[in-house]
Amino acid sequence: MKITVVGAGNVGATCADVIAHKELANEVILIDIKEGLAEGKSLDMWQTAPVNYYNTRVKGYTNNYEPTAGSDVVVITSGLPRKPGMSRDDLIATNAGIVKSVTENTIKYSPNAIIIVVSNPLDVMTYCAYLTAKIPSHRVMGMAGILDTARYRAFLAEALDVSPKDIQAMLLGGHGDTMVPLPRYTTVSGIPVTEMIDETALEAIVERTKKGGGELVNLMGTSAWFAPGAAAAQMVEAIVRDQKRIFPVCAWLSGEYGLKDIYLGVPVVLGAKGIERIIELDLTEAEMELVKESAGAVKEVMNVLDNMNA
Ligand code: NAI
Ligand code: 2OP
Repeated sequence: MKITVVGAGNVGATCADVIAHKELANEVILIDIKEGLAEGKSLDMWQTAPVNYYNTRVKGYTNNYEPTAGSDVVVITSGLPRKPGMSRDDLIATNAGIVKSVTENTIKYSPNAIIIVVSNPLDVMTYCAYLTAKIPSHRVMGMAGILDTARYRAFLAEALDVSPKDIQAMLLGGHGDTMVPLPRYTTVSGIPVTEMIDETALEAIVERTKKGGGELVNLMGTSAWFAPGAAAAQMVEAIVRDQKRIFPVCAWLSGEYGLKDIYLGVPVVLGAKGIERIIELDLTEAEMELVKESAGAVKEVMNVLDNMNA
């Protein structure tokens, strides 16, 4: 098993580190365009192996894709992160160019790989990788929902003073302020969350979740990496271990939820083949309205990309 992570910055390096700790592959290849960065971070990670007791070998290269040949999974994290005052969508022109060239390079050497995109604006960069890779859509997906639900679950665990392990949740829509956390599909060890928290407090947590990325950008001057890196690694794990986990994942829709030709966050079964199934929830009219609004926001940015490519 071989995994490539492109982008040795905050998210990419964290993701590679988690993958190595979990021994998800014999070899992890880390690529960056910045001379020496991937080599240095990989060497540093490798030197934690004797301390942390793992065998996975992380190797870094500067803009050289030959060593990535035959990768089973490729995680794309290359691109600019958000700075204060920027929306995820502001990154589109720069990051589309980066995601396109990285996808061309990786798919050339690993035509059978499953691609997980992390770069922002997430839904549209996943679309960009799909257009470029020209492989079936179940093998091109984006990571956002695991991160967004993790934030929602962490906020809930804190408010309820219970273990974050016991909060299960689902969320739909794009990776932006229009995302749709679903209280009706949120439980605490099987107990509907609405039986454990009042409506006003729950609504405040939903709103904080929607702006969770921005909260961290304002605190740190750049976007988050520990939770995003771990979330991407969790998707890799589900694929390489064929776990058939159900996660919210940015997936290509062909009529599900009444939506077509769009990448959007929905619950999927994730296993060795990539997205093995999209799960359609029985939404209320109000929930469906929110999903449509989110899809509209994503579609607008997809159109910007389409016009750039025209
Ligand atoms: P970073 O700036 O720390 O790392 C990005 C790395 O990409 C840099 O090391 C840079 O040299 C490299 N890079 C740029 N162009 C490249 C190319 N053509 N080939 C190879 N490497 C290249 O940024 P960070 O914090 O790691 O974020 C990465 C991306 O992930 C950003 O677009 C950010 O907005 C996004 N992100 C997405 C999340 C999500 O939930 N989907 C969560 C957090 C970040
Ligand atoms: C995040 O949600 C900015 O997408 C990035 O942390």
